[in-house]
Amino acid sequence: MVDDRVNNERRRFLTVVTSSVGAVGGVFAATPFVLSMMPSERAKAAGAPVEIDISKLKPGQMVKEIWRGKPVWVISRTPEMLESLKSIQDELRDPASEQSVQPANSQNEFRSEKPEILVLIGICTHLGCSPVEKFAIGPASGISDDWPGGFFCPCHGSTFDMAGRVYKNVPAPDNLPVPPYKFLNDSLILVGEEGSA
Ligand code: FES
Repeated sequence: MVDDRVNNERRRFLTVVTSSVGAVGGVFAATPFVLSMMPSERAKAAGAPVEIDISKLKPGQMVKEIWRGKPVWVISRTPEMLESLKSIQDELRDPASEQSVQPANSQNEFRSEKPEILVLIGICTHLGCSPVEKFAIGPASGISDDWPGGFFCPCHGSTFDMAGRVYKNVPAPDNLPVPPYKFLNDSLILVGEEGSA
């Protein structure tokens, strides 16, 4: 009888211990799963909008940033650069940017919310190289005697105007994309969030 009682109590003790360990193990097993469902801070930051300060940007200059791993350019266009957009319409593949990517606030002849401030993703639409700025006009550009200023992709020679519109007869099929962006104030642009048209 005494042995039976000892055995019963020992069995009950082992049952309780086993259940407790199982419950604790459940907590430990569940925690990493829940954490893995939540986006890491780095992942959130990688997709987050980026502020670009243009307070020191002078006409004719550009500033570069990275948004979602892509180069983003902000160019302050001079009156001459804006004027050049009108004179080369016939040389462009998609002058009205009908086949191109741009947010609602940039669906106009300047491809920008404010004519003087252009925002582009600096990735060539051919095979993804990064074009370089060629703002000098004429022979000084090294491109052609009548070059009006724009961008040049060194990989296969695609050329783009001062609105990122691609020329005819080059490998790149489309204009450079305009990312979603909005002005937070006159000095600050937020890339990654769309402004109003
Ligand atoms: S990647 Fe730019 S022209 Fe080919």
